[in-house]
Amino acid sequence: MSEPVLTVQDLRVRMDTARGSAEIVNGLSYSVAPGETVAVVGESGSGKSVSVMALLGLLPKQARVSGTAVFRGRDLLRMRERELRAVRGDGVGMVFQDPMTSLNPVLTIGRQLTEGLLAHRRVSGKKEARERAAQLLADVGLPDPRGALDRFPHELSGGMRQRVVIAIALSGDPALLIADEATTALDVTVQAQILDLVARLQDEHDTGVVWITHDLGVVAGIADRVLVMYGGRCVEDGTVDDVFERPAHPYTQGLLGSLPQLHDDEPGGRRRELVAIGGTPPPPTDLPPGCVFWPRCPVRGHERCATEQPPLTAVGTAAGDGSGGGDVPHRAATFYDAARDAGEVGA
Ligand SMILES: Nc1ncnc2c1ncn2[C@@H]1O[C@H](COP(=O)(O)OP(=O)(O)OP(=O)(O)O)[C@@H](O)[C@H]1O
Ligand SMILES: [Mg+2]
Repeated sequence: MSEPVLTVQDLRVRMDTARGSAEIVNGLSYSVAPGETVAVVGESGSGKSVSVMALLGLLPKQARVSGTAVFRGRDLLRMRERELRAVRGDGVGMVFQDPMTSLNPVLTIGRQLTEGLLAHRRVSGKKEARERAAQLLADVGLPDPRGALDRFPHELSGGMRQRVVIAIALSGDPALLIADEATTALDVTVQAQILDLVARLQDEHDTGVVWITHDLGVVAGIADRVLVMYGGRCVEDGTVDDVFERPAHPYTQGLLGSLPQLHDDEPGGRRRELVAIGGTPPPPTDLPPGCVFWPRCPVRGHERCATEQPPLTAVGTAAGDGSGGGDVPHRAATFYDAARDAGEVGA
């Protein structure tokens, strides 16, 4: 397999919160191959947004970030602000959860789109930049794309702004696209159009994608791999087929509880949200000593879960080392094999 576009290793983020200092992201490791889509799922507050903001130096100054995140051979976590800004404009495209944070309220949409195109010499001049910008807006399904060029962000609806942000993120043909709930607020037809657009970009430019979403239908439709986060940790990862068909962590099993069918992603199809699990996630300032999911876990498959953090272990191996056998290992942070022990656990 070719070199990953992004390799994240042991990413940790500690921040001061209202309730004290807390480890918001706790040892996250994953990689994204060219053309591959990795979906990140997990309940609200599990650290999904913080984990990707950390990669691009977008967290508040007080955040302490450690680990490595190698993009095209260089560690993003060790770059200076200037270099990071260059990477954000050329190489990595990012769509934030809140579109207003990435739009400048005092510049027209056209200006914000053409600036990047001109700065990175993707067009020969202003006229071509405007043409290209209008095309990008048409691609994301914005009505009257030409007219939109001369408007300011506040003159557009939330969904339109979101599409503008997506257009900007895609405008540089990025090697890596990080999308945080990018299509959650959009209606299904527009969402389908944008997912197609991203797929086309991936075909043409081998773009690696990290896609954060609550929508399991989208995960099934676009992702190659999925990473399940809980309490700042990865509790399970693997191919979408492995994780959806044989979820091995009780948290993942809970999330997928009522998932109707895999590959039922036709445009206009029903959206499937993550299933609500009884109880609430622990605040990051007060994580349990063992498995982060222990207090809510209906299975409690092993007594060690209460006192020790279970490491990510290859599913289906008695004492796996997490590297698995195939190209993409299926791993879960459990002390027991949920599939093998299904008969005993909870019986
Ligand atoms: N700037 C900040 N300062 C302090 N704590 C923060 C900050 N941003 C986020 N947090 C905390 O970090 C934790 C993870 O937040 P994050 O936004 O990453 O969650 P998320 O998984 O993206 O949730 P959602 O699905 O709601 O978007 C939360 O407990 C949140 O309160
Ligand atoms: Mg978020």
